[in-house]
Amino acid sequence: MPFHIAVSGKGGTGKTTLSAVILRYLIRSGKGPALVIDADADGNLAQALGLNGVQTVGAILDEMEQKASQLPPGVSKDGWLEGKLAEVMVEQKGFDFLSMGRGEGPGCYCYVNTVLRRIMDNLENNYPYSLMDNAAGMEHLSRRTTRAADILFLVSDHSLKGVQSGARIAELAQELKLEIKRVGFVINRVPGEMDPLIRQKVEEKGLEILGTIPEDSQIGRFDLEGKSLLDFPEDNNVTIAVREMVEKILVN
Ligand SMILES: Nc1ncnc2c1ncn2[C@@H]1O[C@H](COP(=O)(O)OP(=O)(O)OP(=O)(O)O)[C@@H](O)[C@H]1O
Ligand SMILES: [Mg+2]
Repeated sequence: MPFHIAVSGKGGTGKTTLSAVILRYLIRSGKGPALVIDADADGNLAQALGLNGVQTVGAILDEMEQKASQLPPGVSKDGWLEGKLAEVMVEQKGFDFLSMGRGEGPGCYCYVNTVLRRIMDNLENNYPYSLMDNAAGMEHLSRRTTRAADILFLVSDHSLKGVQSGARIAELAQELKLEIKRVGFVINRVPGEMDPLIRQKVEEKGLEILGTIPEDSQIGRFDLEGKSLLDFPEDNNVTIAVREMVEKILVN
């Protein structure tokens, strides 16, 4: 089983950015290969990692629904799906990438989803780390896209609303009895010093702050210029903050 890293939180707070910078750290510190999953149907992790033309797992599920009754003799659904999954997986140096996307068809994908889960469970055993960037909010918990994690990062901006959203996610994870070993906040876009009120609010919710990330103009520049965050500079304050936070978590 890999060490599962899940990233969650309110919309637009920096989940995808954090995921990309964590992956950058894993690759550069030789901890790869990581299995990276963009679980956000409207996600842009591929873009943040400089990947183009990525096909989604959702599209395979659609195809499977259409072709289920016409598979060539001797080809099982499992086998077909496994082959397709290998086709849409983007293999890169230090990581493999899958985008979940969303099935467009009207049907229920319950069966295919079960098969998919089984294949994914086997697949992830090949990796020391898995990293999942989730859609904003809580649907990934209620739909059990996130079922287990060694660490669940709740990303919040430097605001009360961000902390409240993150705390609701932590509460739901607990209610659903998901196997989440550790959960805590990452306060992103901190302007200079973090306001003590943010810490107070987090502690009132019985949660911890795992790290803070400064507001940084280079992040925006990379985004505008379409550059991969995997090439983000080593001496940048965001890179440094993420490295320090992740290193502490991995040794504890
Ligand atoms: N530390 C930071 N400093 C400056 N800008 C940042 C920082 N972190 C993220 N951003 C910017 O904030 C915007 C939102 O970030 P990102 O896409 O990572 O958020 P998200 O939580 O994944 O959003 P969504 O909920 O839409 O998936 C992006 O334009 C990103 O460049
Ligand atoms: Mg995102």
